[in-house]
Amino acid sequence: MKLQQMSAERIARDEKLKGVILAGGLGTRLHPLTKVTSKHLLPVGNEPMIFHCVKQLTSAGITDILIVTNPQYVGDFVKVLGGGAEFGCEFTYRVQDEAKGIAHALALAEGFAAGGKSVVLLGDNIFESPIQPAITDFQAQREGARVMLKQVPDPQRYGVATLESHHIVAIEEKPQHPKSDYAVVGVYFYDAAVFDIIRMIEPSARGEYEITAVNNVYIRRGVLEYSIVQGKWVDAGTFDALTEAHHILLG
Ligand code: G1P
Repeated sequence: MKLQQMSAERIARDEKLKGVILAGGLGTRLHPLTKVTSKHLLPVGNEPMIFHCVKQLTSAGITDILIVTNPQYVGDFVKVLGGGAEFGCEFTYRVQDEAKGIAHALALAEGFAAGGKSVVLLGDNIFESPIQPAITDFQAQREGARVMLKQVPDPQRYGVATLESHHIVAIEEKPQHPKSDYAVVGVYFYDAAVFDIIRMIEPSARGEYEITAVNNVYIRRGVLEYSIVQGKWVDAGTFDALTEAHHILLG
């Protein structure tokens, strides 16, 4: 009886979604601001940018959160975020020593994910609306992964999804001639298979382990679902986008 109770508790704990915020990179497009600190700690609205991601997760009940950043800025993150008590969550930190892409950064989350499902956010993505409905849809999904799409006027800047009969049949990373205007935004939902998939992929022409390559493996396996982003979205990696992010958060 005791043993049964223990394993039920373990299942409940293991099935709890974990959050991963990827906040690496040097933010060179935001020089000289990023000489001060990480892009993800710059002010957006009334708070450091990363607070937005943290609150997206905690408001959806995700309280176990890993922050992946680079050696230059990890001290700044710890100073600003601390252990998590202020946010009602618990932070774990990992350092990405080399800037080898989003999938490479995500590989550092394998031990943290402990065989469970994760929600992965890029720390510079700002959303007007909660992503919580997509989290609920992912929790109902038996296996595989989920991405979020947003129609944009400049798809060549992003991963772009090709849709056929409401299914994603391919994603191209920053294509010169996009096949649709559906950008794949920086929120990804993965089951534990993601870490084996990351080990399978090759670096791209720019020498990075692309998250798009990972998502294309899920497409080939027939287990990539998607949700549409409600409201405005911005990837705040440039000065114009940073200004837009301020407007979104200040309403
Ligand atoms: C990354 C991804 C891209 C995605 C974008 C969203 O690009 O590679 O597929 O559309 O984030 O913000 P990056 O902004 O790192 O160039």
